[in-house]
Amino acid sequence: MEVVVVHGGAWDVPEPLWEASLEGVKAAARRGHQVLRGGGSVVEAVEAAVVVLEDNPAFDAGTGSVLTLDGEVEMDALVMSGARLRAGAVAAIRSVANPVKVARLVLEKTPHVMLAGSGANQFAAAHGHPQVPPHTLVTPHARREWETFKKFSKSVDSLFNVLHVQQQRSGHDTVGCAALDSLGHTAAATSTGGITAKMPGRVGDTPVPGAGGYADDQVGAVSTTGHGEAILRVCLARHITATMATGVPVSASIESSLEHMAQRVAGCGGAVAVSREGEVGMAFSTPRMPWAYVKHRRLHYGIHPGQHVEEDL
Ligand code: GLY
Repeated sequence: MEVVVVHGGAWDVPEPLWEASLEGVKAAARRGHQVLRGGGSVVEAVEAAVVVLEDNPAFDAGTGSVLTLDGEVEMDALVMSGARLRAGAVAAIRSVANPVKVARLVLEKTPHVMLAGSGANQFAAAHGHPQVPPHTLVTPHARREWETFKKFSKSVDSLFNVLHVQQQRSGHDTVGCAALDSLGHTAAATSTGGITAKMPGRVGDTPVPGAGGYADDQVGAVSTTGHGEAILRVCLARHITATMATGVPVSASIESSLEHMAQRVAGCGGAVAVSREGEVGMAFSTPRMPWAYVKHRRLHYGIHPGQHVEEDL
């Protein structure tokens, strides 16, 4: 069975972005599924789905990434293959349109798991990954958000803190994909510009295996989104797969892991996941999270709590 599930970030998506976010995640899920149907590997599928999201300015990843305190774009991305638990990641990379492609190169071309900062950029250039002028990644929305949240602590509280998230109406966060192919192989990919007004050099959960994503053919694959510092402290992606491994249904595994994160570190977020049997789950503790998946040639999607629309591919 082939399954591709994606998310476009757990946050309080404002109404003007609902349609673009839904169309974006639907296109990404379709693209990942096309790759699998065309004989591509599960790693190629999650990469392709995330590229669609990185190229869409509605999302905080690639083009559309939020800005650091200094007004720059620094991005994190992860690709993980569940067959042998191999992972590749980049952290605080600049001036590339598709960090997820560089993360996959790290997985496939180096003995390392993560490259950061200028080293990641040098590696990307050495492998022919095009550098783009930094301003081409910056959208008016990201610039406005940066003007609003000049202080990191204010933006984090506003975006993700359990006590504040219901009362504030701005933010952005992360894209990702989890997939299963017909051979039973799993993969996950996650990509982000991080959190508005983060300190230069700050690295969140996204590139860290076990936090921003995880894939293990013995259990399934997951991609997470939300407050990176909270996710890192509870190892959210690994917490979810560990819960799935005990036989708890996929959505319930995500929900209980998010509840754990809320209780222990007062963080909000969300995740999508697929089990090795092809069971799909998604959940979020923020007001909204656009998600979509393809399974049995049907497209499923939603953005609001409890929303689940289904149609033919
Ligand atoms: N979850 C993305 C970040 O905190 O950077």
